[in-house]
Amino acid sequence: MSTPTRSATAFQEFIGTLRQQWANQLYPALRQRYADIDDGSNPARADEAIAKVSGTTLYHWFEFIERHYQRMKYSDPRWGLAATFEACPEWVRAQIAAAGGSRFLELDPALPIPDYYFEIDIHQHPGNLLGAPYDGLMYQASATSIHPNTRRFEAHERFADLIATRGSFRSVLNMGCGFGKCTFPIAERFPQAEVVGIDLSGPCLQLAAATVEARDLTNIRFAQRDALRSGYADSSFDLVTSTQLLHEVPVEGIEQILRESFRMLAPGGQVMHLDFRPRSRWMEFLIDGHSVRNNEGFMPAFNRMDMHEAMAAAGFVDIRIEAFAETEGATAPDWPYWRFPWTLFSARKPA
Ligand SMILES: C[S@@+](CC[C@H](N)C(=O)[O-])C[C@H]1O[C@@H](n2cnc3c(N)ncnc32)[C@H](O)[C@@H]1O
Repeated sequence: MSTPTRSATAFQEFIGTLRQQWANQLYPALRQRYADIDDGSNPARADEAIAKVSGTTLYHWFEFIERHYQRMKYSDPRWGLAATFEACPEWVRAQIAAAGGSRFLELDPALPIPDYYFEIDIHQHPGNLLGAPYDGLMYQASATSIHPNTRRFEAHERFADLIATRGSFRSVLNMGCGFGKCTFPIAERFPQAEVVGIDLSGPCLQLAAATVEARDLTNIRFAQRDALRSGYADSSFDLVTSTQLLHEVPVEGIEQILRESFRMLAPGGQVMHLDFRPRSRWMEFLIDGHSVRNNEGFMPAFNRMDMHEAMAAAGFVDIRIEAFAETEGATAPDWPYWRFPWTLFSARKPA
């Protein structure tokens, strides 16, 4: 059986290192250029600084590497993830074989997929997450390099820790769960709860189910369902969550997800969607650029959406929109390295 080659693994390690250098050396230099012009004393300085910095060679390198490290990671014809997995179909099948007939998995191959999902290869993942049997494996391999300066999946572990400070939950829905990066830590923190992860992507869910089969967890299920119309009964859950889902959905879809979250929550239940939200003109500029460079087509509209108003319109109360530290100290104003502006959008359904 062919397996991923040493050359492919070495290439992916190189890509990871490139990402680290981009985040920890190139970005701080760029940020310093910006800060040299905008010292915070005058709001007009932000636009002036952005105009100057965006014309520098340093910024062009920043853009180029952001676009191409991700493109090479997925689509390099020799050692990219797609070529690597395409070349080892038996190995791919073996990785997700345990999902076959798993009691933890409910697949629905006839599930209608919303149109927006096919509009763009999100974060440059070829064919999005529905194109190939190895899509879950490919997303898992990619996801480890995307947040430099954090331990593997640290943001999701910390999110689960935060949830544990907000209540004691017995039925939890994790929307857009992917391969379960966040579903697993929640199920571990709440052993008494039934935790369900839903996603459109069958290959991601198969990987998630294969992972459960290899672990000592029985309070977790995965189902192929649409977060916009999940099919669960009213008041089915006391916590509805998602991580990094909202920015991949058009505004009207986000509004629908909020209404759906509200409908599925029992009275007094809580919603917690973890995503991104720039808090400065500089970060908004960088994230707008990122959305182009990384095929995140719905992100700019999400960043400008009034989430407080949208959550209130869905019926929620106690709405909180807070910065979230994906690792210790990351939200400090002098944090020098590249990071996404992680933000928690939380609220409660009236009791
Ligand atoms: C950026 S990934 C995040 C995955 C995971 N939550 C994480 O934080 O790593 C977004 C996920 O949302 C899923 N997704 C997008 N639209 C969806 C929808 N309408 N219903 C369910 N899942 C959806 C995608 O398939 C993908 O797995």
